[in-house]
Amino acid sequence: MRSKLLQLLRQTNGYISGQEISKQLGISRTAVWKHMEELRKNGYELEAVPRKGYRLLNDPNRAGEDEIKAKLQTQTLGQEIIYKNEVTSTQEEAHEAARKGAAEGTIIVADRQLKGKGRLGRKWESPPGSGLWFSLILRPPIPPQEAPQLTLLTAVAVTEAVTEATGLQPQIKWPNDILLNGKKVAGILTEMQSDPDRIQAVIVGIGININQMEFPEELSDIATSLKQESEGTTYSRADFIAILLSRYEYWYHHYLKHGFLDVKKRWEALTFTIGKKIKATTVTKTLIGTAVGITDDGVLLLKKEDGEIEHIYSADISL
Ligand code: BTN
Repeated sequence: MRSKLLQLLRQTNGYISGQEISKQLGISRTAVWKHMEELRKNGYELEAVPRKGYRLLNDPNRAGEDEIKAKLQTQTLGQEIIYKNEVTSTQEEAHEAARKGAAEGTIIVADRQLKGKGRLGRKWESPPGSGLWFSLILRPPIPPQEAPQLTLLTAVAVTEAVTEATGLQPQIKWPNDILLNGKKVAGILTEMQSDPDRIQAVIVGIGININQMEFPEELSDIATSLKQESEGTTYSRADFIAILLSRYEYWYHHYLKHGFLDVKKRWEALTFTIGKKIKATTVTKTLIGTAVGITDDGVLLLKKEDGEIEHIYSADISL
């Protein structure tokens, strides 16, 4: 109901009376008043003028359940939304929810993460009010060894969503960093709960720098946000997640129906790693060569100068 009320307030130019709202939404005047109070608690500035009605003065760019639902156009993804102002990590919350039986498509969104998790045990900077930090629970009927394909699918969906929302064209850096002008704008962390032969759940963690205008010093050369790359345009976080979930749903259904091939082709078209001479630093060694492709498991194929092909499972890549 609150998402409908929000839609109504946003689309009204000027004031809308309590009576009109109660008529359009089919709820009592008291219920309207209660919902308005709830919106105020969530940071909305609402003006209430006797005989004129209500007017929205300020939209806090929140990506809570009401805001996302007001924009959502998907059939399955995001139908269940768990929103928290502050968590340790949405990954942890999602693992817990998945173990308790949360449905496929459930998302856990937080305004702030105190210990956001990155790949390879790194920390993911997740300040409040600016980025989009969320985890998606999937229950794909695929064998566990194919789960890495979902990481590439996620990178494709995030890249397409950035283009749809902003007109910018990011590139994917293997395995799944999303870059704009060479700086990281989004990261993906895929984790799995599985039996030896069956996936229980895949937890896809997605972090997107939306409206930050500055980063901690150690990140300022390597991280960017959508806002920084578009001359200070502020983007709606709820709009963005709704666009992303639509792109995700399209690719996820396509993948379950037709397999990995089209996802892989799209990933290859959106990456800049393939065809480039790169340096891959793994835990044990540093390799130099040309990135010639990826396998169906998302493993990077590196052709060394002597012609031999190395399989790279995990590494830091530099050009
Ligand atoms: C990476 O590039 O290293 C992956 C970063 C993934 C960050 C997201 S933010 C939402 C979710 N919760 C976490 O703790 N991490 C992921």
